[in-house]
Amino acid sequence: MDVRTKSRYPEIYARWRRDPEGFWAEAAAALDWYEKPRTIFDPKAGVYGRWFTDGVCNTCFNAVDRHVAAGRGEQAAIIYDSPVTDTKRSISYAELLDEVAAFAAILKDFGVEKGDRVILYMPMVPEALVAMYACARIGAIHSVVFGGFAPKELATRIDDAKPRLIVTASCGIEGARVIAYKPLLDEAIRLAAHKPDAVLLMQRPQLEASMISGRDHDFNAIRVAALRDGKRADCVPLLATDPLYILYTSGTTGIPKGVVRDNGGHMVALRWSMDNLYGIEPGETYWAASDIGWVVGHSYIVYAPLFHGCTTILYEGKPVGTPDAGAFWRVIAEHGAAALFTAPTAFRAIKKDDPEGKHLAGKDLSKFRTLFLAGERADPDTIQWAEKILNRPVIDHWWQTETGWCIAGNPVGLGQLPVKYGSSSVPMPGYDVQVLGEDKQPLDPGKMGAIVVKLPLPPSCLPTLWQRDDRMRDSYLDEFPGYYKTADAGFVDEDGYLFIMSRTDDIINVAGHRLSTGGMEEVLSSHKDVAECAVVGIRDDMKGEVPCGFVVLKAGVNRHPSEIEKEIVALVREKIGPVAAFKIALIVQRLPKTRSGKILRGTMKKIADREAWSMPATIDDPTVLDEITAALKERGLAG
Ligand code: COA
Ligand code: AMP
Repeated sequence: MDVRTKSRYPEIYARWRRDPEGFWAEAAAALDWYEKPRTIFDPKAGVYGRWFTDGVCNTCFNAVDRHVAAGRGEQAAIIYDSPVTDTKRSISYAELLDEVAAFAAILKDFGVEKGDRVILYMPMVPEALVAMYACARIGAIHSVVFGGFAPKELATRIDDAKPRLIVTASCGIEGARVIAYKPLLDEAIRLAAHKPDAVLLMQRPQLEASMISGRDHDFNAIRVAALRDGKRADCVPLLATDPLYILYTSGTTGIPKGVVRDNGGHMVALRWSMDNLYGIEPGETYWAASDIGWVVGHSYIVYAPLFHGCTTILYEGKPVGTPDAGAFWRVIAEHGAAALFTAPTAFRAIKKDDPEGKHLAGKDLSKFRTLFLAGERADPDTIQWAEKILNRPVIDHWWQTETGWCIAGNPVGLGQLPVKYGSSSVPMPGYDVQVLGEDKQPLDPGKMGAIVVKLPLPPSCLPTLWQRDDRMRDSYLDEFPGYYKTADAGFVDEDGYLFIMSRTDDIINVAGHRLSTGGMEEVLSSHKDVAECAVVGIRDDMKGEVPCGFVVLKAGVNRHPSEIEKEIVALVREKIGPVAAFKIALIVQRLPKTRSGKILRGTMKKIADREAWSMPATIDDPTVLDEITAALKERGLAG
């Protein structure tokens, strides 16, 4: 079966394969450069080579300034829609330029210079985007930390990034709850060895925060004065390889990985994706319903739509409950979004509340063409349900924080390929995706193995981890020489469609959020009564997966188990944050192990997921699995 006859995809992918540098040089021409790159790829630079090494550019200029110069000044750049604060605000490209230039000048007044780090601990407000563009404008490196992380996680990131300045807000709003951010930040700074010079705080009327004299500064007052005084800072020419941002993501230990994104490659790949992958024209409205704390938010709320002269929607709300399961349809209709990009979990939440899609009635979705899903595997049920109620294509696509854009997808801009449920479709230009077996040799179609990408990775993908070339090599490059290890497992079918099935490491995916079970085990082990533990991700109808902790107590501990379980749940919330969604701790007598002492996490997961499982040949004592099954059954989690 040739499934691709109507799409330009085969021709474009073949074009990239024939001449990768020519392909990316052409893509780079769609952006503005102070000095156009002559070296498209330097294989000798960096850990595995670098893109556009002699190009000189500025990300903020390409996102903001050039559109004002080209006559888009009056067009909305950002539409802020916040049902939780009952606010709607449209910010034109011209207004955005004024705000960003002023914010950049403020950053400079705080002594922030090219190469300095600025941490943002911010809710979904336009000021967060302005701060990101302002950093890009002067060559400062931003690092956004998701609001659902606890102070200890924030402190780890502060110590790694060593920011000169932290930008924050007094509170975030989660559905009906107001979450005080400032005490979390104060605690994080207390815990961190590195202390920022200053904190720039945006007070929100829902909850004002107290300020620490000498360190904290009122953003609103400084902003008003800067705009009044006409303070502005210009774009600084930067090397394409200078870092734009660091985004921390869960690794296989409690220490997150600082994924570095550079300026040039990021712009080139993201802009290419807007028309070729997403099928969006400049001037259209694009909506990524994610959070700026995640990579999807960075790439498709903050940067890509603006690189392409589109309007981006910044939505401070949930798919359900703000106020109801019709919220997404309202936003699409009201702002004329041409595409929505979100995580499957959001659609599962909508489906649960409104299975028949009744909230769609009366909503004008005439401009809406495509729904894109990513962040976790889109289960066929959810895709088919969304297709049915929306009567539009629903596209699953696969990517990672490390890549910053899609690895495999269905490029509707090049002409949509047939959808295969459960598959994230085909590799994008730039990615030579292969499936390797245990002998590290390519596997035949249909055979499950480790999914890898032949080096070099395309533009936008991480050149390295922040100040850790060694960890970059060790985590991604050493196991399969010549390839980038995605740590996902799956297979390719006869038509070249990719099926991403699971992770090969300890990462789990909870409501589209990537979390390390190893990191959670470190927290559980730190409880004074815990002798040993194992955390596995178990199936959840809404969130895809949720963590489940099995805990063995130290000998002689005779407190009530439910009391200790509650403490353990509270400890994960305190140390990692609510985003971990760690609500199940089970105290058991023993953990199942192999004779060499390896904990049989996979078997425990299968039991909890009610999947067929077989007794591992190497198990030390098979009766332990009966105890685990009984403990799960007691909570209604197995059997
Ligand atoms: N600041 C503070 N706390 C936050 C937070 C933030 N920015 N984001 C989430 N949290 C909290 C939530 O309030 C919740 O706390 P709780 O345990 O007290 O209820 C906890 O973290 C877990 O959040 P979440 O997993 O998001 O669950 P939820 O029940 O609040 O919402 C969904 C469920 C499906 C509606 C929601 O997960 C969703 O919209 N997901 C979309 C996923 C997404 O955007 N992924 C990004 C990749 S595309
Ligand atoms: P993150 O870095 O948070 O974007 O998470 C990346 C991981 O999420 C990937 O390595 C996959 O395990 C998973 N993932 C993301 N998108 C998909 C998808 N479309 N299908 C399957 N898994 C996905």
